[in-house]
Amino acid sequence: MFLKLALVVGLGSVGLCVTYGTIQDVPDIKWDFIIVGGGTAGSVLASRLTESPNFNVLVVEAGPTNEGVDLSIIPGLALGAASTRYDWNFTTIPQQGLNGRSLPFQRGHILGGSSSINGMVYTRGPASDYDRLARVSGDDGWSWDSIQPYIKKNEKFEPPGDNHNIEGEFDPSVHSSTGKVAVTLPNNLSSAVDAATLQAGNELGGDFQFNLDMNSGKPLGLGWWQATIGHDGTRSSSATSYLDSQTKARKNLHIVTDTFVTRVLKTPGTEGLTIRSIEIRSPNSSNTILLTASKEVILSSGAFGTPHILLHSGVGDQSDLKALNIETVLHNPSVGRNLTDHPMLFITFGIAPNSIDLGPWVNLINDPALQAQALEVWKANGTGPYAEYVSIHHIAWLRLADNSSIIKKFGDPSSGQESGHIEIMLGVFNGTYDAIPYLVSPVSRGLLTIGSNNPFDNPLINPGYYNSAFDLPTIREGVKSALKFSKAPVWGNVITGLVGPLANATTDEEIDAFIQNNSVSGLHPVGTAAMSPKNADWGVVDPDLSVKHVSGLRIVDASVLPYVPAAHPQVPVYIIAERAADLIKNKWHA
Ligand SMILES: Cc1cc2nc3c(=O)[nH]c(=O)nc-3n(C[C@H](O)[C@H](O)[C@H](O)COP(=O)(O)OP(=O)(O)OC[C@H]3O[C@@H](n4cnc5c(N)ncnc54)[C@H](O)[C@@H]3O)c2cc1C
Ligand SMILES: *[C@@H]1O[C@H](CO)[C@@H](O)[C@H](O)[C@H]1NC(C)=O
Ligand SMILES: *[C@@H]1O[C@H](CO)[C@@H](O)[C@H](O)[C@H]1NC(C)=O
Ligand SMILES: *[C@@H]1O[C@H](CO)[C@@H](O)[C@H](O)[C@H]1NC(C)=O
Ligand SMILES: *[C@@H]1O[C@H](CO)[C@@H](O)[C@H](O)[C@H]1NC(C)=O
Ligand SMILES: *[C@@H]1O[C@H](CO)[C@@H](O)[C@H](O)[C@H]1NC(C)=O
Ligand SMILES: *[C@@H]1O[C@H](CO)[C@@H](O)[C@H](O)[C@H]1NC(C)=O
Ligand SMILES: *[C@@H]1O[C@H](CO)[C@@H](O)[C@H](O)[C@H]1NC(C)=O
Ligand SMILES: *[C@@H]1O[C@H](CO)[C@@H](O)[C@H](O)[C@H]1NC(C)=O
Ligand SMILES: *[C@@H]1O[C@H](CO)[C@@H](O)[C@H](O)[C@H]1NC(C)=O
Repeated sequence: MFLKLALVVGLGSVGLCVTYGTIQDVPDIKWDFIIVGGGTAGSVLASRLTESPNFNVLVVEAGPTNEGVDLSIIPGLALGAASTRYDWNFTTIPQQGLNGRSLPFQRGHILGGSSSINGMVYTRGPASDYDRLARVSGDDGWSWDSIQPYIKKNEKFEPPGDNHNIEGEFDPSVHSSTGKVAVTLPNNLSSAVDAATLQAGNELGGDFQFNLDMNSGKPLGLGWWQATIGHDGTRSSSATSYLDSQTKARKNLHIVTDTFVTRVLKTPGTEGLTIRSIEIRSPNSSNTILLTASKEVILSSGAFGTPHILLHSGVGDQSDLKALNIETVLHNPSVGRNLTDHPMLFITFGIAPNSIDLGPWVNLINDPALQAQALEVWKANGTGPYAEYVSIHHIAWLRLADNSSIIKKFGDPSSGQESGHIEIMLGVFNGTYDAIPYLVSPVSRGLLTIGSNNPFDNPLINPGYYNSAFDLPTIREGVKSALKFSKAPVWGNVITGLVGPLANATTDEEIDAFIQNNSVSGLHPVGTAAMSPKNADWGVVDPDLSVKHVSGLRIVDASVLPYVPAAHPQVPVYIIAERAADLIKNKWHA
């Protein structure tokens, strides 16, 4: 520990870290690659591409540095990132399927992007999701078998900070300890609730049967939650892991934060449609800075940022652009279309007083003295409730039955028999037992558009929740499964029943009304610059992630996923970025 610290301080003091807080300080270098967005995917590329000393890489990130930002470092403070300078503060347009409500939609505005403020849940998703991506894109390189090396390069499994015995909580044979991003299991903080949750699963069996490891490619059943948190109790983001101090000390890696990219531009003096230049401008200023990469510009600005930049650059639907007085550079109506997200909602059950040991931290969010104590424990030992996001320790992944009337009527939109349609997070939060269903196999598609030609105006985000007939009855089944779970014998004297208006819902219509009034975003948007086969007449990128009909421009982030994974998507994004780095290195003979 001491040695590691000394090394970090040593490198810092000789000033090798090339990070800048303003574009004016960035030296005039011949960039091989410019990465727009130092987020989850962008940081992976920055790290992997600069492994080759021949490549000079510039990362341009709109948000500030992650260094020293407590709410990004301390897992238990992460909920506090919403509506701060580390959040883009997006909102959706009013959603018909949600009774006309608009939802806040967080995205990370910080180095590391959303991985610096997310809930840290580590889920790879079902193997069949990757096989579907391979099938839909026509590139077998995206199949579950093919991406195994990238899982290993990404994951660094570590024992949890309290060193409790984790045998039986995961399957070590499907994990890697040699990658970058730390992954661990929850500390043993609320053992009675954990034990009862697992016992409920055993009692009910079937859908809730215990699954030793939901990251084996076969997630179905109830298992322990894994998170991108290290043994030391700190968040492991793409910034802390891929942009560690040794990587930042590379002379060929330059990172500029607090710098907003307005557009990508046709590169002067090039043939055909070559786009490897970026424009940087401040709001209300007409002074623009133009930077050009000699090899590629890579958009890693996320599922909202990437289509936003493309549309302002004139890459999108010609008639939409014309209406905003934006000159069309490339007509492609797929840009921003097919936006897909997971809706989710909270179902709350009361707990009878003194019926179960809720552990010493149960009043944490209401009690400042307890918070001070938790912080002390975290600082001293990297353990306690601040070493986790919220005290939810289990997840169940469930499928509709094959003979379900929903599947009979609408077909099965999931990627295969081992994929969930519904996810339910389970645990105690603020003194109640919560079941949090997500619809992870939505059929609904929305879109992202822009409402003006000013790149500083937020995009118009329309996830289209519940606009397809499959979705509402399916999440209703999720709500019913949560109710079934709460009635397992083990909860007999513990769970008192539903809290809130769902308690009075008896008909499907009443349950649906509750769902539509209470669903929020799962914060998992994808699909706005989708991958499709090389010669497809839809989609935005080819299977190698290069933008169709353009030279010099690639997209590497969540926007390229044509289907939302039946998983929390940070791991799929890491995997895409790791493979993309190899595709780029191969092309340019690193
Ligand atoms: C609050 C929250 C909780 C979540 N919880 C989980 C979870 O528990 N588990 C999980 O797997 N997933 C979770 N997710 C989703 C997951 O984090 C994202 O799917 C993933 O990180 C997306 O990666 P990305 O590289 O596509 O985009 P991002 O990581 O968002 O990166 C985009 C980057 O581009 C920058 N950028 C955007 N526009 C510009 C511009 N014009 N100029 C310069 N820079 C720009 C942004 O500031 C950002 O740094 C959560 C997300 C959020 C926001
Ligand atoms: C988000 O909103 C908060 C509160 O209004 C503000 O302080 C913050 O700067 C905003 N974030 C960005 C990136 O503008
Ligand atoms: C968790 O802690 C409890 C005591 O609070 C203990 O009885 C139990 O054995 C521990 N579980 C593990 C797996 O270490
Ligand atoms: C900049 O322009 C926006 C409109 O795009 C305006 O709301 C804002 O007040 C302007 N800021 C300054 C400093 O002029
Ligand atoms: C949306 O995705 C589907 C495939 O899921 C595709 O057939 C369709 O063309 C896409 N739409 C657009 C506008 O890209
Ligand atoms: C840290 O752990 C040590 C060893 O278990 C323990 O003695 C100490 O009290 C802990 N510190 C805090 C602040 O909890
Ligand atoms: C589906 O099959 C199960 C048995 O496999 C049966 O119990 C159930 O009633 C069937 N449901 C429908 C809707 O047919
Ligand atoms: C936690 O519960 C208490 C009362 O039980 C309530 O007053 C408080 O608003 C809750 N806090 C949150 C963040 O849900
Ligand atoms: C349920 O309905 C009853 C009777 O109408 C009402 O008194 C009660 O407040 C309702 N409960 C909730 C949680 O809405
Ligand atoms: C849904 O919200 C509307 C508007 O706030 C309200 O009138 C209605 O009673 C709510 N319905 C349910 C079931 O919560």
